[in-house]
Amino acid sequence: MSCDLIIIGTLLTAFIACHSVICSAAKDVSFDENYAVTYGYDHVKFLNQGKSELQISLDQSSGAGFGSKVKYGSGFFEMSLKLPPHDSAGVVTTFYLHSGTAAHDELDFEFLGNREGKPITLQTNVFSNGVGNREQRMILWFDPSADYHSYKILWNHHQIVFFVDHIPIRIYKNNEAIGVGYPSQSMQVLASIWNGDDWATDGGKTKVNWSHAPFTTHYKGFNVYGCGSITNHVEGCSSTKYWWNQKKFWELNKVQEKHYKDIKKHINYNYCSDKSRYPVPPPECATNE
Ligand SMILES: *[C@@H]1O[C@H](CO)[C@@H](O)[C@H](O)[C@H]1NC(C)=O
Repeated sequence: MSCDLIIIGTLLTAFIACHSVICSAAKDVSFDENYAVTYGYDHVKFLNQGKSELQISLDQSSGAGFGSKVKYGSGFFEMSLKLPPHDSAGVVTTFYLHSGTAAHDELDFEFLGNREGKPITLQTNVFSNGVGNREQRMILWFDPSADYHSYKILWNHHQIVFFVDHIPIRIYKNNEAIGVGYPSQSMQVLASIWNGDDWATDGGKTKVNWSHAPFTTHYKGFNVYGCGSITNHVEGCSSTKYWWNQKKFWELNKVQEKHYKDIKKHINYNYCSDKSRYPVPPPECATNE
């Protein structure tokens, strides 16, 4: 018994050490371990025998998607994506969490495609109890269709942080104390590619050019660090026995704070500063800057 505890303690220390710098996925687990295809089966292709990498594609007949087999009540979710190259205007690629309930919770990475030579936009959003309208958009400091990059969502009871590689690009703090909704329902991890040309590019004015189909996104990194919940109950998912709930993950560290300041220049839309939508910024805006 005491021997087991020491071993567990050592493993835990290794994990914590690793994640103080948020290192990338320790190993490539098989897709089947944590995920299953949800739609567009004939638009999904595994790229190697170990099922550690796959592509999903969109053409005029269908898009495709996949999702985690269980829901989670907290965690540090990451996925590596390589987006459709060249002209992908109107094409939306996603990696997100969704509760699947009527008054739903949702945390989104949405990549909005663009014409050849024009940059892809990364949009993030946060829904709590069915209330969203918290869009933030940015142009990344690299071309996300050229290589794999990792996109991560930290979700604990204190904060939600969106990361691009190791850089925090957005924070959503728990402001329940001042009446702001905070995602707390169990959520499924999801990914998809679909036609969003009624809104995604230039506000819907720039359409998909189907002569460039199929549009293909690559995914890898199917390991999940999460508090899994088969029964959808999230009690216990805030426990500090999960490393992502520990105090050091309640706020950004000094290095992350500096990165977060530095990437502000890449943000080209923030609902918090959209005076036409919100003459008075929503209450959470002050603490998430
Ligand atoms: C769609 O792509 C084709 C092939 O590159 C091009 O000839 C055509 O002009 C494009 N259509 C639009 C509306 O951009």
